[in-house]
Amino acid sequence: MDHTLVSLWTDIRRRLEAAGVDSPVLDARLLIEAGAGVSRLEIVTDPRRPLSDAQVAAVDALAARREAREPIGHILGKKAFWTFDLAVSRDVLTPRPETELVVEAGLALLPKGEARRVLDLGVGSGAILFALLSERPETSGVGIDRSAEALAVARANAERLGLHHRADLRPGDWLAEIGERFDLIVSNPPYIVSAEIDALEPEVARFEPLLALDGGADGLDAYRAIFAGLDRALAPGGAFIFEVGRGQAEPVQALAAAHGFTADAPLTDLAGIARVVRGRRAA
Ligand SMILES: C[S@@+](CC[C@H](N)C(=O)[O-])C[C@H]1O[C@@H](n2cnc3c(N)ncnc32)[C@H](O)[C@@H]1O
Repeated sequence: MDHTLVSLWTDIRRRLEAAGVDSPVLDARLLIEAGAGVSRLEIVTDPRRPLSDAQVAAVDALAARREAREPIGHILGKKAFWTFDLAVSRDVLTPRPETELVVEAGLALLPKGEARRVLDLGVGSGAILFALLSERPETSGVGIDRSAEALAVARANAERLGLHHRADLRPGDWLAEIGERFDLIVSNPPYIVSAEIDALEPEVARFEPLLALDGGADGLDAYRAIFAGLDRALAPGGAFIFEVGRGQAEPVQALAAAHGFTADAPLTDLAGIARVVRGRRAA
């Protein structure tokens, strides 16, 4: 069938809607941009432009992947986070908007113009660490991940963002190999209850790495492991900021208290869910 930009947009939108995709209009446009090699402006200003068979076939192939509920970020190979795009793949968690709350809380603790050391545990694509480093040119940091594949993605992102000189990306198991002290330790660890992973939306359950999701029987395994070593990795007066899942702020604050940390009130996301637990080591 012959297609114009607008007829293809409508067609793909309907297919994505029928597949249960939750943002069919936007995703259809992004797939047309990527598959047909056209810009958003061209779609909007010249909607009746005819497309070649090759362009239609390329968009169709991408749309079939999205219909199978592959995340749009994996198909496009990138995801917007903070002020930049990050390369993403099946090897890293696709960064989420709520994780920007961790960045905001971190920036509030990193004074402009002062050198600080930051540690990101479970660095993944590099989202949190790179957002902090991009806003604070005097700051440097370490990103730890147990996944070698995730570290390769993070290293490529650091290079592309020009942050590789200030971001030391290392393999490791939480704090096990950390021998220095940091002013700020951030983490968005895996926190999904193991038994609940299969019931998540297909984009997450089928396509995100299990290592980035699985928080164990009660979702709190990573926090327990991190708190066990946190005291010796934080500088005096140093702070921690951790993303948590729904209903986990209270138990994670209890873990903090059990390890002798003072926790501030958690930060809530736009849906009113307590998302970020933060606190300090006594000075
Ligand atoms: C939820 S993802 C967060 C990724 C990224 N920080 C973000 O916010 O988008 C958790 C990350 O922790 C890593 N991870 C899981 N277990 C780990 C461990 N024992 N030590 C270090 N990293 C681990 C995973 O590979 C994954 O990259």
